Amino acid sequence: MMAATALSSAAATSLQRTAAPILSSAIRNSSFWSGVEMGPPDAILGVTEAFKKDSNPKKMNLGVGAYRDDKGQPFVLPSVKKAESKILQQNLNKEYAPIGGEAEFCRLSAVLAFGADSPVVTEGKNVTVQGISGTGSLRVGAAFLSKWLPGNKVVYLPKPSWGNHTPIMKHSGLDVGSYRYYDPATCGMDFAGAVEDIKNIPEGSIILLHACAHNPTGVDPSPEQWKELSAVIKAKKHFPFFDMAYQGFASGDIDADAFAIRQFIADGHMVLLTQSYAKNMGLYGERAGALTIVCQDKEEAARVESQVKILIRPLYSNPPRHGARLVTEVLTDPELHAQWLVDVKTMADRIITMRSKLREGLAREGSSHNWEHITNQIGMFCFTGMKPEQVEKITKDFSVYLTKDGRISVAGISSSNVDYLAHAMHMVTK
Ligand SMILES: Cc1ncc(COP(=O)(O)O)c(C=O)c1O
Repeated sequence: MMAATALSSAAATSLQRTAAPILSSAIRNSSFWSGVEMGPPDAILGVTEAFKKDSNPKKMNLGVGAYRDDKGQPFVLPSVKKAESKILQQNLNKEYAPIGGEAEFCRLSAVLAFGADSPVVTEGKNVTVQGISGTGSLRVGAAFLSKWLPGNKVVYLPKPSWGNHTPIMKHSGLDVGSYRYYDPATCGMDFAGAVEDIKNIPEGSIILLHACAHNPTGVDPSPEQWKELSAVIKAKKHFPFFDMAYQGFASGDIDADAFAIRQFIADGHMVLLTQSYAKNMGLYGERAGALTIVCQDKEEAARVESQVKILIRPLYSNPPRHGARLVTEVLTDPELHAQWLVDVKTMADRIITMRSKLREGLAREGSSHNWEHITNQIGMFCFTGMKPEQVEKITKDFSVYLTKDGRISVAGISSSNVDYLAHAMHMVTK
């Protein structure tokens, strides 16, 4: 009785202490939220907002990370359109999906990433669940590591990494560190720096790797470099956490883009993998993605799966259905599957062509800089090497919008504006 009284009075004092300033300010301003500070705008959405307000007919938005066709329009993949009409004809109901999504969607996602013959798939070592696209899959994956990875709860990100990685990891309870990745002097990879840092990171840490088409730099390791990274990560007993948001988008070939993840599996790593269908199926707003945790055997996989479901249930209960149905249809129907491979290649090839045209345009302008990195880099983004003051100038003088770090979304360039961009880039960098 005594203990209970003491506890409740201590709890009451602590409550009064934390609640007092909030309550008094709320009463003063007659709102509970008067103490809420204005947060900074999202870096990429801020670029789009500024772009919308610009009345220059030549304006270009190179901030947004979504594919555009050569007319600058959003692109619904022909394979996805056909899948959608097939699904609509089936008159399906809107019942809840299971907590981890449909089993067939999960199986197909694992096959896409690891390959149909991979022992991960054939021996049932994978726990694969549907996530809320790449972001949601990363969030659940990070929460799982935060709760269950033995030892060190620090994830090391390449420097730089996708802007959302740090907040996702922190929200999930992981601490965040970094390893060298990009070399501004060459606009290429600082491979020696990456290897040295990974060797010095405390043993058993989490190393986040972009499986292909690194965002924001467009700089990927070569196959030989991947092999070396795999060996270093293994030697240090680190845990590889793969984010694969662009399978097929880098080279136009879904198997070539899965090289790194398959190499790590061949080398005996137990990995965690997140996948997104936002870019490679153009399903941005449908939020279709997957999370896979590779386990030692089926029995371990069953235990891990039960815990992943326990994490998902209070977060969003179960995933949305439509996007997953589209993915399942595209990957199952042989005709649609073949069409999809063509669609992915069409998108990747257009991006590769725009890179070449931009480089040619800069040469025609008479630029004396080395722009080789524009064509050496891969995927949707190009780290141009433009400095913040040059970015400011290109926006002010030419209405070309991009993030301050000099990253452009190559998908935002088209045949009709690539020369204008080359001219603008030359004018602000000469
Ligand atoms: C590196 C990386 N990871 C994950 C994502 C997740 O995207 P989404 O949640 O739309 O699938 C993105 C999207 O831009 C990305 O660039």
